[in-house]
Amino acid sequence: MSAFTAGLTLLLVTSTLWTQVSAQCSAGTCQLLDNCNTDSDCAPGLICSSCVVSGVLQPICIRDQATVLQNITSLPFNKVAWLTTHNSFAIVGAPELTGPRITFYNQEDSVTDQLNNGVRGLMLDMYDYKNDVWLCHSFDGECLDITSFAPALDTVKEIMTFLVNNPSEIVTLFIEDYVSAVNGISNVFRAAGINQYLFPLASMPAPGADWPTVGTMIQNNWRLVVFTSKSSKQATEGIAYQWNFVDENQYGDDGLVAGLCPNRAESQFMNSTRNSLILQNYFHTNPVQDTTCRDNSQALYDELTACYTASANRWANFLSVDFYKRSTGGGAFQAVDKLNGQMQCGCNSPVSCQTRTAPGQCPSETSLSPATSPTADAQLPSPGGPAAESRADKAQPWVAFLTFSCWALIHLLLW
Ligand SMILES: *[C@@H]1O[C@H](CO)[C@@H](O)[C@H](O)[C@H]1NC(C)=O
Ligand SMILES: *[C@@H]1O[C@H](CO)[C@@H](O)[C@H](O)[C@H]1NC(C)=O
Repeated sequence: MSAFTAGLTLLLVTSTLWTQVSAQCSAGTCQLLDNCNTDSDCAPGLICSSCVVSGVLQPICIRDQATVLQNITSLPFNKVAWLTTHNSFAIVGAPELTGPRITFYNQEDSVTDQLNNGVRGLMLDMYDYKNDVWLCHSFDGECLDITSFAPALDTVKEIMTFLVNNPSEIVTLFIEDYVSAVNGISNVFRAAGINQYLFPLASMPAPGADWPTVGTMIQNNWRLVVFTSKSSKQATEGIAYQWNFVDENQYGDDGLVAGLCPNRAESQFMNSTRNSLILQNYFHTNPVQDTTCRDNSQALYDELTACYTASANRWANFLSVDFYKRSTGGGAFQAVDKLNGQMQCGCNSPVSCQTRTAPGQCPSETSLSPATSPTADAQLPSPGGPAAESRADKAQPWVAFLTFSCWALIHLLLW
């Protein structure tokens, strides 16, 4: 048998075996990290995706929804962690309203879908444009036809609809603010009818103090928290200047150095205890859809602890990522679980805080079924990367071997 025939045979055998592996579950029965062919194979809250850059070559079910937090109304707002999308509006495939667009994208689904999947922090870049306020992904504070996305009002209306339909949910906006028009952003809020939900500046905490509880915020309908990057807006429009209330680490590539968590220039030091909210960024300067799954996995999970340590032993409240659904398993959702679990009870998931039987214990694998609790502590060593990878390897070592053989043979032939 020639090397070519051998290679071809191996290829065929491998693909047949792969198909068999994929067929082990289907029609909504596949669980976290199970092999799958399409989203509909996976159980609710999961989607079917691969992560070639992390070695997850065959699609598996990964999380696409945040854990619904139970029993948090008695907690101060700053004792809860919320999944946050970086440039929430820079959505792949967004209609081009002002001609061809040339800019970076950071997300893949609508702001409404993001909210429905459990995203509670939105980063929005607002610019003066077309005698209005627009969301743009631009530079030099100037929105161009090629960098525009949509009028800010459109997105604020989506948020408004979500707040109306979900009366116990709280959404936080981080506005990268290039708007100079007098009352520009306030006018957008007014036009959307969203003012009734604004958390009043006067009720934001004094330095070093806790925020009101989640329950108080819900009762008072203070369910839209807004921060601006422009300090003057706090005096002129009553919009809180972000770094008067939030400590934030460096964004982009400089923020991805393992083990380090430096503050961004505008922020207090991470270890300042003046601000009780912490925003942790974890994304590259240039977003790449297909490699973000690697970022939103073990590296992100580990970096939570780095920022905790750098922030005087405080866990982040907002975890900001690109392409928030991309991962190798638990992804950013499991990272947020770790933040909430650690803040609430020292476990790696808020589910553990609700189900554990004794203080100081985190439920083990046997007491938390992966089928019903994809966030169980038991799966934690592998929030994304390693978990998924090792599981896939275990399930089909021979497939990996055959694939490798195939690859080697084909290379040999071509060489
Ligand atoms: C706080 O952080 C800054 C900047 O990282 C560092 O220079 C300083 O030593 C830290 N202070 C304490 C008390 O750890
Ligand atoms: C909810 O929180 C309260 C106060 O922290 C606690 O006493 C109670 O046991 C919690 N309930 C559940 C179901 O965990």
